Amino acid sequence: MSTLALLLALSLLSFLPTPTSSATFNCSVPASNTCRSLITYIPPNSTTLNSIKTLFNVTHFRTLLGANSFPIATDPALPVSAGQKVLVPFTCVCRNGTGVSNKRPQYIVKSGDDLDHIATVLFSRLVTYQEIAAVNKISDPSLIRIGQKLWIPLPCSCDEVDGERVVHYGHVVANGSSVEAIATEYGTTQETLLRINGISDPKTLEANQVLDVPLKACSSSISNESSDARLLVSNNTYVFTANDCVKCQCSSANNWTLQCEPSTVNSTVCPAMQCDDSSLNSQLLLGNSTSGCNQTTCAYAGYTNQTKILTTLVTHSTCTASDNKNNASKMSLQGSSWNFLFMAIHLVLLFLHVLQ
Ligand SMILES: *[C@@H]1O[C@H](CO)[C@@H](O)[C@H](O)[C@H]1NC(C)=O
Ligand SMILES: *[C@@H]1O[C@H](CO)[C@@H](O)[C@H](O)[C@H]1NC(C)=O
Ligand SMILES: *[C@@H]1O[C@H](CO)[C@@H](O)[C@H](O)[C@H]1NC(C)=O
Ligand SMILES: *[C@@H]1O[C@H](CO)[C@@H](O)[C@H](O)[C@H]1NC(C)=O
Ligand SMILES: *[C@@H]1O[C@H](CO)[C@@H](O)[C@H](O)[C@H]1NC(C)=O
Ligand SMILES: *[C@@H]1O[C@H](CO)[C@@H](O)[C@H](O)[C@H]1NC(C)=O
Ligand SMILES: *[C@@H]1O[C@H](CO)[C@@H](O)[C@H](O)[C@H]1NC(C)=O
Ligand SMILES: *[C@@H]1O[C@H](CO)[C@@H](O)[C@H](O)[C@H]1NC(C)=O
Ligand SMILES: *[C@@H]1O[C@H](CO)[C@@H](O)[C@H](O)[C@H]1NC(C)=O
Ligand SMILES: *[C@@H]1O[C@H](CO)[C@@H](O)[C@H](O)[C@H]1NC(C)=O
Ligand SMILES: *[C@@H]1O[C@H](CO)[C@@H](O)[C@H](O)[C@H]1NC(C)=O
Ligand SMILES: *[C@@H]1O[C@H](CO)[C@@H](O)[C@H](O)[C@H]1NC(C)=O
Repeated sequence: MSTLALLLALSLLSFLPTPTSSATFNCSVPASNTCRSLITYIPPNSTTLNSIKTLFNVTHFRTLLGANSFPIATDPALPVSAGQKVLVPFTCVCRNGTGVSNKRPQYIVKSGDDLDHIATVLFSRLVTYQEIAAVNKISDPSLIRIGQKLWIPLPCSCDEVDGERVVHYGHVVANGSSVEAIATEYGTTQETLLRINGISDPKTLEANQVLDVPLKACSSSISNESSDARLLVSNNTYVFTANDCVKCQCSSANNWTLQCEPSTVNSTVCPAMQCDDSSLNSQLLLGNSTSGCNQTTCAYAGYTNQTKILTTLVTHSTCTASDNKNNASKMSLQGSSWNFLFMAIHLVLLFLHVLQ
C-alpha cells in the first residue's frame, strides 16, 4: 500500500512543472545580523488577515498590521479578497550568500499536501518545492508526512544597496508591469533594480516574478549600543520595539525621519519615556515636540537591558530671518515679564508678612 502511494507520488512528481522563477536574493552580511524584510502575498482565494498571519507564522498580529500601515485596532477577521496584495513581514538571515526567512514560516504538513502544492498553491510560488526540500534536508521530496514541520525559505536580503541600509521587499510583479514602473513606484532606479536582481534585459521581466526591491528606510537617533541598533523601518510602515513599549513609524512625509511614541500595547510594564532637559520649561514626552519654528522633539534613542528607554532631544529649525527677529524681541519681553512676576511674588509675600 505504502509502496503504491510512493510510486504514485513519484510518478506525479515527474509531471510537476519545473520552477518558473526560483527567486534568490544575494545576501552576504554575517548571519548574526538578521534583519526585517517584506514580501508580497496575493491570496488565490478570499481569506482573512488572521489566516494570513497563521499561514506565515507571524508572531504578533500587530506586526502584520504595521507592515501594511493598517490601523492598530483592525479586526483580525478582516476579509482579504482573492488577488488583494498583502505585505508579510518576516526576519531574514543570510545563509551561504543567499537570504532566506529565518527558520520561519513554519508549516505543518496536512493530509493531502505535497511539497509542490505547498510551494505553488499555499505559498503562491514565493518559493519552489526544491527550495523547501533543500533547507529542510529532504532528499526525496515525495516523502513528507502529516504533522511534519517544514521551514518555508522566503527570499530576502540584509545587504546594503549603494552604501545605504534598506528594507528588502520581495515584490511580486503584476501582469503588464515594467522594471521602470516598479522603480518609480518604490523610489528607486531601473538601473539599481536590474543590477541587484541580475537582470540584463528589462524586457525579460515576467508577471509573478519575485523582484528584490530595496525600500528606503527612515533615519533615526537610535544609539549603536541599543538592543535595536539595527532597526530599519521603511516608508509607510510602523513597528513596535523596546519590548513593545515604543511604536515607530516611517513616512516620506516626515522627511524620512523615524517618528516614535509610547505604545499602548503593553503600557503597564513600560519604563518612563521622556526627555529631561533643564533648558526646557516643560518635560517633553517621547514623540512630543515644542511648537514654533525652532522645533525640539523628544526622539527615541534605543533601549538597554530591557529596563531603560533612551531618549534624545533633536532640534530642527525652519526659522526664517524674520522669525528670528521677532524671537529676539519676544525673548526680551519674556525677560521683563519674568522680572515682573518675581517682583509681584515678593510683594505678595511682603504683604502676607505684614498681615501676620
Ligand atoms: C554553500 O554553498 C556551497 C556551494 O554552493 C555548498 O557546497 C555548501 O554545502 C553550502 N553550505 C550550506 C550551509 O548550505
Ligand atoms: C509559529 O511560530 C511559533 C514560534 O513563535 C511556533 O511555536 C509555532 O508552532 C508556529 N506555528 C506554526 C503553525 O507552525
Ligand atoms: C481555493 O479554492 C479552490 C476552489 O474552492 C480550491 O480548490 C483551492 O484549494 C483553494 N486554494 C487555497 C489555497 O485554499
Ligand atoms: C496579462 O495581460 C494580458 C493582456 O494585458 C492578458 O492577455 C493575459 O491573459 C494576462 N495574464 C494573466 C496571467 O493575467
Ligand atoms: C511613500 O509612501 C507614500 C504613501 O503611501 C507614497 O505616496 C510615496 O510615493 C512613497 N514614497 C516612496 C519613495 O516609496
Ligand atoms: C550574487 O553574488 C554572486 C557571488 O558573489 C555574484 O557572482 C552575482 O553576480 C551576484 N548577483 C547579483 C544579482 O548581484
Ligand atoms: C558606537 O559608535 C561610536 C562612535 O560613533 C563608536 O566609538 C563605538 O565603538 C560604537 N559602538 C558599537 C557597539 O558599535
Ligand atoms: C530633511 O532632512 C535633511 C537631512 O536629514 C535636511 O538636510 C533637510 O533640511 C530636511 N528638510 C526639511 C524640509 O525638513
Ligand atoms: C507585555 O510584556 C511582557 C514582558 O515583556 C510580555 O511577557 C507580555 O507578553 C507582553 N504582553 C503583550 C500583550 O504583548
Ligand atoms: C505628547 O505625547 C503623548 C503620547 O504620545 C500624546 O498623547 C500627546 O498628545 C502629546 N502632546 C502634545 C502636546 O503633542
Ligand atoms: C546592562 O547590564 C549589565 C550587567 O547586568 C551591566 O554591566 C551594564 O552596565 C548594563 N548596561 C547599561 C547600559 O545599563
Ligand atoms: C532659533 O534658534 C536660533 C539658534 O538657537 C536662535 O538664534 C533663534 O533666535 C531662534 N529663533 C526662534 C524664532 O526661536
